[in-house]
Amino acid sequence: MAVGPRCNLQCGLYLLLLLLALPLRSQASAGCYGIPGMPGMPGAPGKDGHDGLQGPKGEPGIPAIPGTRGPKGQKGEPGMPGFRGKNGPMGTSGLPGNPGPRGPPGEPGEEGRYKQKHQSVFTVTRQTAQYPTANSPVKFNSVVTNPQGDYNTNTGKFTCQVPGLYYFVYHTSHTANLCVHLHHNQSRVTSFCDHMSNSKQVSSGGVLLQLQRNDEVWLAVSDYNGMVGMEGSDSVFSGFLLFPD
Ligand SMILES: *[C@@H]1O[C@H](CO)[C@@H](O)[C@H](O)[C@H]1NC(C)=O
Repeated sequence: MAVGPRCNLQCGLYLLLLLLALPLRSQASAGCYGIPGMPGMPGAPGKDGHDGLQGPKGEPGIPAIPGTRGPKGQKGEPGMPGFRGKNGPMGTSGLPGNPGPRGPPGEPGEEGRYKQKHQSVFTVTRQTAQYPTANSPVKFNSVVTNPQGDYNTNTGKFTCQVPGLYYFVYHTSHTANLCVHLHHNQSRVTSFCDHMSNSKQVSSGGVLLQLQRNDEVWLAVSDYNGMVGMEGSDSVFSGFLLFPD
């Protein structure tokens, strides 16, 4: 289509559009056109574009400054009890407790044997021609009877095991002057002295003694110590329990 004087309606509309679309530069030089129109209203914003590619990793940040301690918080709930600890060292023993209640009576015991429990007898002889040592127990070295062993032939002493009343008696032969003392512990209970008027003599004595357990009884001689024990001239010491306590 050619632009000419005879421009129809279609052509005129086209010119109008052309005027509106002309740049300003051509407006200045082309004085033949009319005053430029007002700029149009901004169009509506377009739709959001697609997400872009992930950007590169950024530079490391500035090291953080350690925070200062905040104010003390509120007291928390009590925790669960811990495990049981190990046993401590043993303490010192306590004071003895009170005595317990009295127990029930026991069964009756067996029948006692009075005869065996309360016996004490002995007879011993001295079998030597030597005189005994002065002022010490005379050792009767041979046993005639001594079932409880209350007389000790090594020490020459009788030791009481059963408290009670005892009788002691001796018959001694001597070939020189003789004094016989009967001792109960450290006390001299009896003394019998005989001066020689024959070549051989017999001297005797006896006493009842109340004895406690462990009391001792023995015979001793003084410097007059002519006691012998020979065939036909015996020296015998006896004792026995008469009444137990
Ligand atoms: C006699 O002596 C013995 C032995 O030393 C002793 O155990 C006892 O208690 C004494 N008895 C008395 C009445 O002193």
